Parts: sequence; C-alpha cells; structure tokens
Amino acid sequence: MTSRVHLNPAAPPSVDLAGFGPPDRAPLELHRRLPGYAATPLVELPRIADRLGVGRVLVKDEAERLGLPSYKILGASWAVYREVLAVLEPDLQPWSTVQELAAQLEPYGPRRLVAATDGNHGRAVARMARLLGWSATIFVPAGTVEARTSAIAGEGAEVVVVEGTYDEAVEVAAREADARTLVISDTAWPGYERVPRWVVEGYSTLFNESDDQVAAQDIAPFTHAVVQVGVGALAAAAVRRYRAGGDGVTMLGVEPADAACVLASLEAGGLVEVPGPHRSIMAGLNCGRPSPLAWPLVRDGLHAAIAVDDERAREAMRLLAAGGVVAGESGAAGLAGLVALADEHPQAARRLGLDSDAVVLLVNTEGATDPEAYARVVSG
Ligand SMILES: Cc1ncc(COP(=O)(O)O)c(C=O)c1O
Repeated sequence: MTSRVHLNPAAPPSVDLAGFGPPDRAPLELHRRLPGYAATPLVELPRIADRLGVGRVLVKDEAERLGLPSYKILGASWAVYREVLAVLEPDLQPWSTVQELAAQLEPYGPRRLVAATDGNHGRAVARMARLLGWSATIFVPAGTVEARTSAIAGEGAEVVVVEGTYDEAVEVAAREADARTLVISDTAWPGYERVPRWVVEGYSTLFNESDDQVAAQDIAPFTHAVVQVGVGALAAAAVRRYRAGGDGVTMLGVEPADAACVLASLEAGGLVEVPGPHRSIMAGLNCGRPSPLAWPLVRDGLHAAIAVDDERAREAMRLLAAGGVVAGESGAAGLAGLVALADEHPQAARRLGLDSDAVVLLVNTEGATDPEAYARVVSG
C-alpha cells in the first residue's frame, strides 16, 4: 500500500470564508422538519485511537441520515428548499411537515430536479423530488454500480448513464437547466455558485449536531478533523466550522490515489484537473475537478492532503466494522487516510500533532451503499 501526502504549511491560522457567512442553524431547522430526522451518533473508537497512537477518535456516523445511507441529503435538502422558497415567496405559509410544503407548491405546477452523481447526492436529490411531488433526472458516470443506480431509480427518478467520468456527467446535467428544470449540483462552475453554496451550508447540520454532542458528553474540543474529499463541498463545510475562528483545529483531507484533484491542486498552487478514468471503489470521491466554490476554503483550510489506494479503504472499512460502525468505501476513506499517515508517514503525522493529546473527528459519510461489496470486504 502506498499513499501520497502533501503538507500545506501555507494554511493560515484563520481562514477567510470567501463569501460564506459564519455557520448558523437554519439548515438544521429545516432538517428537523423532514421525515425521520434524528441526530446521527457520535461514536468513540478507543481501539482505533490506540492503533493510531492518538488520544481519542470520534466518528460522526452518517450511515443512516433521514432514511438514506449517507450525509448527502443534508446538502441536497437545504439547496432544494432554498429553490422551493424562490418558487413560493412571497406567499410562503408556515409549515411543519413536508406534505404541507408540497401542498403549497402544487398550484405552481411541477418542477423537475436534475443532478449528476456518483450515487449518494443523486439519490438524495431524487428523494427530495419525491417528497415534494416533483420528478427527477439523475445522471451517473459509466461504471456506477447497479446497487447505487437502482437505489436512485427506487426513489422514482429517471437514471441516465453518461459515457464518461463524473465530471462529464456534471457537464451533461448542467445543460438541462430551463424554466421548470432546477439543476441541483454539489459542485460549482463559472456562473453557477448559488446552489452549491446552499449544499455546503446544508452540511453544517452534522457539525452543529456534533457540537451539541461534544458539549453533552463533556468531550474535550477536537484538535483534528479529517474529511474525505470529492469535489470538496464537505471539506468546505468543515473548514467553515473548524477553521474560520482560528480555533486551532488541524484539518486533513483524504482522496483516492487516482482522483486526488485537491492534493494535485495544492501541489500546483492552483486548481488543476486530474483526468479520468477514476476507478476507485471510493466512488463518492471519484472526482477529477475540485469545486471552484469550495476551493478557496479547502486550499486555506486543509493542513494536509493525503491520497490513498483502495486497499487502505478496505482496511478502514474492516477497522470500523470491528468498532461497530458500518462504513462504505467512501465513508471509511477518512480513517484510511489517518491509518496511511500513521503507518507510512510518521514524521508528517508528528508534524501535524497526531499524538496522544489529539482528539480526532472523523465522518463516516456513508453506510453500505453497495451491500454486496461491503459484505465481501468486511468478511475478507
Ligand atoms: C459518501 C461520500 N463521502 C464523501 C463525499 C465527498 O464529498 P464532496 O464531493 O463534497 O467532497 C461524497 C461525495 O459524493 C460521498 O458520496
């Protein structure tokens, strides 16, 4: 197993939020009104902390979020809701269930939601369309596993396979926009930033919840936060929470070896694209182009980026399973990066302060979204 690490000594003590406001709880107020809302668990993993030689490891476990196996609906729902407000305002009436909201929308006629996805974001957008009584078309790159495409179709969406990478699927989805078709993308491009900004804002809920859980469980503040990186929207949300106030949290981003576009961009000192095909089993992270919206936060917020191979992801899935956490390939990637750092780059780990005083936050961003592959990996 070989991994590649890039330290980012230029990361400033406090990050400029580049047009994002400080985090607030407005998305959480929406999420509380969606069916099946419950705060996801913050789970302590002492054996993994021992394995890594750090003080404590806590994982925010998003294996089940609002009835779906990934955190992604936090961003998709907030973005779609902001679009709903644009349709309804100034006539929006107070509502407490999504059925009441859908009833208010009915007189305005149907809309279609469109997204490109490696799986989880598209399924979340499809779920939002279903809840609102709208249709959805979801574009997936060639090679997306059947379990993930059928889960999206199971939400009632039309699934279209694009013969190309995730980044090409994004381009196809972008062309669908019209008066009644709303493109809900988690990545940005020139002239399209409003929706991906809402997506980043929506992810704040998982950090708000973990703030509450840390306070309730009397846990010392996190010294480190580790996030897996696809286009960088989740990482931007984490930077917004942990790096804007100069509160001393060290951040690590983790990517698959052949889709390490943020690591490559940090090395190059500017946005670069890593051409496909991107074939990692960490499907949610198979992105060749960082989101230009997320990039300034990611560039300044991450203290290090690490690129890992699929074997590290499998190892991390098994470690998490032994700790009682069901983590899919992309979900386990954060831990994969930490283990690779500890085993292969001990000097870098020391420089990043990963020692017995460290209190590390991981995010398990997905459960077993490809159940057969999950069973094979964990039993092997
Ligand atoms: C399970 C999972 N984890 C992490 C990510 C990475 O998120 P981002 O693309 O915002 O960097 C994704 C993105 O699709 C994902 O599906």
